[in-house]
Amino acid sequence: MQLPPIRIGIVGSGRAGMIHARNFSRLVAGARVVAISDPIAEARHAAIQELGEVAGYGEYQALLEDRNVDAILIAAPTALHREIAVSAAREGKHIFCEKPMAMNPEECDAMIEATNKAGVVLQIGFMRRFDAGFRAAYERVQAGEIGEVVLVKSCTHGPTYPKPWMFDLAQSNGPLAEVCSHDIDTVRWFTGSEFAEVYAIAGNYRTPEARESHPDFYDQVLLSARFANGSQGCITGAQGVQYAYDSRVEIIGTHGLISIGGLNAGTTFICTRDKELRRPAVVSWTGLYRDAYLAEDVEFIAAIREGRQACVTGRDGRAAVAVVNAGNRSIIERKIVPLN
Ligand SMILES: NC(=O)c1ccc[n+]([C@@H]2O[C@H](COP(=O)([O-])OP(=O)(O)OC[C@H]3O[C@@H](n4cnc5c(N)ncnc54)[C@H](O)[C@@H]3O)[C@@H](O)[C@H]2O)c1
Repeated sequence: MQLPPIRIGIVGSGRAGMIHARNFSRLVAGARVVAISDPIAEARHAAIQELGEVAGYGEYQALLEDRNVDAILIAAPTALHREIAVSAAREGKHIFCEKPMAMNPEECDAMIEATNKAGVVLQIGFMRRFDAGFRAAYERVQAGEIGEVVLVKSCTHGPTYPKPWMFDLAQSNGPLAEVCSHDIDTVRWFTGSEFAEVYAIAGNYRTPEARESHPDFYDQVLLSARFANGSQGCITGAQGVQYAYDSRVEIIGTHGLISIGGLNAGTTFICTRDKELRRPAVVSWTGLYRDAYLAEDVEFIAAIREGRQACVTGRDGRAAVAVVNAGNRSIIERKIVPLN
C-alpha cells in the first residue's frame, strides 16, 4: 500500500531553502513540497514558478497554520530559527532546521522542549554526516583502524565574501556560526566526545569595508579545543579566500591517519609543455555536498515515517551552538573558555 506523501512547507526560499525544496519536490520518495514562505516577494515568486503548484505565503505563521503542511524546512536567517521552530511544534509540524540551530543554547533548549512536548521530529542540517567520504571515515574510526582518536582537524574556507548582514556578530554570530558549525559538529562526531574547553583567535584580513563599522568582525578564525575524553580538536574557518571552496578533515589516531576531502574537483588535469599540472578546484559547497543534502532529506522523511528521532538531533545542534558562543567569547576575552 502506498502511503500519502509527507507534505513539506519551506520557510525561506534562499540558497539553502531551494536546495531542499528541489530535493523534496523531485528526488525524495514519499515527499512533496506544498507551500513556501518568504517575505521577499521576488524570492517567493521565483520559487513558486520553479516548484509548480505550491501555496505561497509572505508570513511564515500563515504557512504554519496551513493544514496541508505536515513538516517544515527552516532555511530562514538563523536569528529566526527559534521562534519559527517553537511555533511550528505548537502546530504539530515536524521540523528540519538548517544549521546553526539557533543563536544560543537557551534558544536551542526552547526548540528541543517544544518539539519533545509536541512529539515531532527535530532534525538539524549537518549534512556532512551523510557525505559518503565522511561516513566511510566514521566507519573506519569506529572499526579501530587508526586506534584511539587523538586529534581531529577540520577546515572550511569559503571563496566568497561575507554578506553585509554577517558583519554584525550580534545578528550572525560570525563565521564560527555561519562557516564553522559544520566543522564543530564534525570534530565532535569523530572524537565521540563533548567539547570541554576552547581557545580561539580571529581577525579581519580580507574585508576592509567592515573594519570601521564592525571592528569585531572577523573573516579568519582558528579554534583549538580539548574534549572531555582528552582528545583534541583544531578548526579553521574563513570567508573570501577566493582560491576554492576548501573543506578538508584529518583524523589522527594513536596509529594512523584518515584524510577526507581535497581541493581537486574531479580527476581531470592538464599537463602541457610548460611542465605544470593544472586541474580545476572545488568551487562551491552546493556541488561538493549535493548528495549529502539529498541523503539528509531522505533521512528526515524516514524518521517521520518510522516515528523515531532523526539521526542528527537538537542535542547535536545545541552542542555546536554552545561552542560557537564559547569561541566568540574566547576571541573577545582572549582566554580559554570552558564548556559545561
Ligand atoms: N547546511 C548548509 O550547508 C547551509 C548552507 C547555506 C546556508 N545554511 C543556513 O541556512 C539558513 C539560510 O541561509 P541562506 O544562505 O539560504 O540565506 P539566504 O539569504 O540565501 O536565504 C534566506 C531566505 O530567508 C528569507 N527570510 C527572511 N525572513 C524570513 C521569514 N520571516 N520567513 C521566511 N523566510 C524569511 C529571506 O528573504 C531569504 O530569501 C541559515 O541559517 C544558514 O546558516 C546552511
